Formats: sequence, C-alpha cells, structure tokens
Amino acid sequence: MSHIQIKNLKKSYVDKRRVARSGKPDAASQEIVVLDDINLEFEEGEMVCILGPSGCGKSTMLRMIAGFDQPTSGEVLINGEPIDGPRADNIFVFQHSGLLPWMTVWENVELGLRHLEDKEEKDKTIQEYITMVELTGFEHHYPHQLSGGMQRRAELARAIAVNPDTLIMDEPFSGLDFLTHMKVREEVVNMHEYIKKTTLIVTHDIDDALIMGDRVIVMSGRPSHVKLEKKLNFGRPRDLARNHELSELREEIFFMLGISYAV
Ligand SMILES: Nc1ncnc2c1ncn2[C@@H]1O[C@H](COP(=O)(O)OP(=O)(O)OP(=O)(O)O)[C@@H](O)[C@H]1O
Ligand SMILES: [Mg+2]
Repeated sequence: MSHIQIKNLKKSYVDKRRVARSGKPDAASQEIVVLDDINLEFEEGEMVCILGPSGCGKSTMLRMIAGFDQPTSGEVLINGEPIDGPRADNIFVFQHSGLLPWMTVWENVELGLRHLEDKEEKDKTIQEYITMVELTGFEHHYPHQLSGGMQRRAELARAIAVNPDTLIMDEPFSGLDFLTHMKVREEVVNMHEYIKKTTLIVTHDIDDALIMGDRVIVMSGRPSHVKLEKKLNFGRPRDLARNHELSELREEIFFMLGISYAV
C-alpha cells in the first residue's frame, strides 16, 4: 500500500462575490473548481516535486494532504486511513519563517525534541542536525542574526528534528538569491538522503524538480488535473545539461507550462 493516496480528489470554492452580484445563487456562477479528479500515490520515503501554473491549486492540494482543508469530494488516505484533520504527529509542514524569533537556533531545533528525556541524547541530536545543515558555530544566534539562507537551513534542521513521517514543503526556496537557493536545495537533497522520509515539494522551478525529485508531477491550469507524472530514475547529483533524457524532459515541461522555449 502506498504511504499517501489521493483518490478522485476534487476541490471547489464558492465565489461569494459573483453570487452577491447576481443577487441569487445559481449553480453555474458560484462554484470555482480548483482541483478536478486528482489521483496520485506517494510511496514511503519518496521525494516528489510538484510543478504547475500559479493558482492551479498546488498549495490547496498540500493543505488537504496536511489535513488543514477538506476535499469537496474524494479523499486523502495516509497509510490507508482517511485524513480528517491536521496530524502534527506525522506530518510536518515546512513553512518559511517558521523559526521563533525569540529563540536561538539551538532552541528552535530543540522544540521538536521535547519528547527526549535524556539530556545527553537530546543535545547530541540537536548538534547532529545543526551540523548537518552546516550551522555549526551559530547555535546560539537568534534568527535575525542569520542570513536568509542560514535561516532557511535552520528551518530545515527544525523540520527534520521533529522526525515526521511526511515532510510537506510549499516553495521552500522562495525569496532566496540564486546561489543560496542552490545551497539550500542541496541541503534538502542531503536531508532526504539522510532521513529517507516521504517528502512533497511544490516548486516553481523546473530545474529544482528535475534535480531533486524521485518523481515529478506537473499539474494543469484550473480546473487542475495531473498533466504529467514521471519517475526520475537517476542518481544524484544530476547534471541537467549533460543528461539527455532530463534535458528533453525539461523542455517538454517548459512547453507544457506554456513557455515555448527552455531557458
Ligand atoms: N479559501 C479560499 N476561498 C476561495 N478560493 C480559494 C481559497 N483558497 C484558494 N482559493 C483559490 O484556489 C486557487 C488555487 O489556489 P492555490 O493557492 O492552491 O494555488 P497555487 O497553485 O498554490 O498557486 P501559487 O503557485 O501562486 O502559489 C486560486 O484560484 C485561489 O484563488
Ligand atoms: Mg501556492
């Protein structure tokens, strides 16, 4: 059985302004279908990257997987069980600015490890994650004393310290400069290699998806359905320019997203 199953998922919203304008609710004007009949499965430990045009419903889909929002119809199953609310015990939603500003890097990472009673074990684990994201020496800095990229890496350490079964990341590299983006992306790949947990990443960057994903999913514009699903059976690190199959796929996805030439 797949770790996460999305079955016949549909999500629509009621456009209240249109109803107000027309004065009376009529079926055609009030429903905006965002996601339409989505069927997907995510395997245990898989890293899946999701691409799609802005507004197609990627965040909406992640929210439903995390249990923050309910489908209009269809269902999301985790380990075969329908999800009916947020499950902090096994899903971690990675959100930019998730660090608590009044706590140091060490204390932020420690938050996810409150269950560990043995202080020595706890300290060792915190240090291990901080070292993993290359923040050694910055343990006692506050978030505002870190660069944007360092903050993002500290957020990553905090996320993996929680040891979730599933990590959900909605545009984890947004707002980072080019080099920092690449650095944090590398950290996410390392992190996944290390913890091997199911990881779902929404990104706007086709190269991110092709470099990181065990699988890439491309969604269509609204009402959104799955336009392409492709397994990426390539080792890492990946060189997109030299890998013929990946370069072709890159072009295909550009085209699919409405860009007629790959840049
Ligand atoms: N609570 C809501 N009420 C009404 N409409 C909503 C609500 N949440 C989302 N939508 C609509 O659903 C659509 C999809 O939104 P969503 O945020 O999931 O898109 P997205 O693919 O994540 O876009 P982006 O790439 O820009 O982040 C949008 O048209 C949005 O206006
Ligand atoms: Mg979004």
